[in-house]
Amino acid sequence: MSTLREFHDSMRSSHARPRLTLAIAASLFAAACRPATVSETPATTSPPRIAASFPASWRFRPGTGASFAPHAMVVSNDSIASRVGRDIIARGGNAVDAAVATGFALAVTYPFAGNIGGGGFMVIRMADGRTAALDYREIAPLAASRDMYLDANGKLTNKSIIGHLSVGVPGAVAGMDEALRRYGTLPLKTVIAPAIELAERGFVIDSGFSRQLEGSQRDITRYEGSSLFFPGGHVVAPGTRLVQRELGWTLRQIAERGPSGFYSGPVADSLVAEMKRGGGIITLADLLRYKPDWRTPVKGTYRGNTILSMPPASSGGITMMETLNILETYETPAPFGSTQWAHRLAESYQRAFLDRNSKLGDPAFIDVPQAELTSKEYARQLRAKIDDRHHTPTATLVASREPMHTTHYSVVDDRGNAVSTTTTLNNGFGSAVWVRGAGFFLNDEMDDFAAKPGSPNMFGLVQGEQNAIAPGKRMLSAMTPTIVLNPHGQVLLVVGGAGGPTIITGTSQVVLNVIDYRMSLADAMHAPRLHHQSLPDSLSFERNGLDPAVADSLRAMGHSLKQVPSLVNINAIMRVDGGWDGVFEPRSRGGAIGY
Ligand code: DON
Repeated sequence: MSTLREFHDSMRSSHARPRLTLAIAASLFAAACRPATVSETPATTSPPRIAASFPASWRFRPGTGASFAPHAMVVSNDSIASRVGRDIIARGGNAVDAAVATGFALAVTYPFAGNIGGGGFMVIRMADGRTAALDYREIAPLAASRDMYLDANGKLTNKSIIGHLSVGVPGAVAGMDEALRRYGTLPLKTVIAPAIELAERGFVIDSGFSRQLEGSQRDITRYEGSSLFFPGGHVVAPGTRLVQRELGWTLRQIAERGPSGFYSGPVADSLVAEMKRGGGIITLADLLRYKPDWRTPVKGTYRGNTILSMPPASSGGITMMETLNILETYETPAPFGSTQWAHRLAESYQRAFLDRNSKLGDPAFIDVPQAELTSKEYARQLRAKIDDRHHTPTATLVASREPMHTTHYSVVDDRGNAVSTTTTLNNGFGSAVWVRGAGFFLNDEMDDFAAKPGSPNMFGLVQGEQNAIAPGKRMLSAMTPTIVLNPHGQVLLVVGGAGGPTIITGTSQVVLNVIDYRMSLADAMHAPRLHHQSLPDSLSFERNGLDPAVADSLRAMGHSLKQVPSLVNINAIMRVDGGWDGVFEPRSRGGAIGY
């Protein structure tokens, strides 16, 4: 049984939109990974951390090691891509060069979520103190309309999650190029070269890769990717060298002409032809007008540390900051794993997600009350209404309010620059539509809009009018690329994840485990996780991740508990004595590679 599939099945309520999915599930349960690459430099020392204590039946033991490197570190869901980024730094590039190189490599070696047909967010902190947030989220095509996914009876169809109509105008290529031009030091040609080589010469796929494909076989074989990934009707077997000639050609167009090599010319023509073939609505005009946006990072504090994270069009930074502000009002953190720990997390996430789902959206289209939602005073008001002994049902909180496959990679370089990037196609392999002739999957990001305000999307998120579909609008995201600075102003953590709304809760729990519970990064990543997103009004926990007496107490307090196999896929780096610890998601696959 799969992780996110079970989780999402439990989140999905009124309408069955069955696609989410084997694919995401396969990713998180791709146990047979490419070798879990470890750092090539032995560990030295690490700062005093407090030994974590996990529930007796929890699947991970505390005290496991991280990959350590004294100079630089790249952590992603694919060890080849992490190595590409590490090599760029070792050859003199900076963290942004490495992040972009890793991003393009992931588009080749991790097509499940790495992409040029999707979009993402990047938070940057340069060693000289400059900070930046880049929004290269997809946008709705010009021909999109508010009710485009409703049938004649006003019911939601599944066209926002599969096929040509589910595709948002991709932002990945424009975004990566923009980041590189403003903060990188190397030309695009140089950082994209490893990806071209991986596409043209191929790489040997492992069983995890093969299993991800298998999980999406029914969807992918409906479209043009069928012959490459399912030759003769069978999934490419583990151990096969996968050559992607068409993708190599597309990457060469980008290397030679920059973003114009993607947004105009033969690649764009192929994409538009693919749209026409399948009844999609993206036109050349949509591609030509796509622009990434530089934004100011959400900046807040948590117990003396500084949090830098992503503002809208992602909800990640605001929702996480609102939660942390509420938790900070408790002078002493509740003991890790206790009933109060779970209760406070649940009640705080619940309040923050209510705001997320009703007040956040693309700032070009709506007014976002960011200052209010991230203020300490607002957190105090919310905290005043949290009952320490009983869960407050979401329904009673909603009444007083207005009506109404992703992958993360973290990079640090030897100069102290840090980059936190999350990118996605939404579902594993996105819409499953593969562009004939150009060789890449397109996203199904349109489902992140409220396709029918008030009805749950694929992730069970019940969102309002502020996130309704409009031409040219960015769909609200939960991606939370984050950088935490310690009280001395040094980079402490680079962290973020994949998993829809669980990104916000999972990322913030790694931050809390490090700051409140002084866990090592390895323990912070192996610790059991919780999730609450206001609706459905339930507290999800990982199997055996709550002590039975704690679970029983939470039920008695009015929490509806849902046990799921696992939650969220995080890749993180932490400063330690003499260098960096890197840990890729222990529930999934990846590589933490430094030097
Ligand atoms: O932007 C978002 O919030 C979603 N499109 C993220 C999807 C995701 O994380 C799927 N992952 N495993």
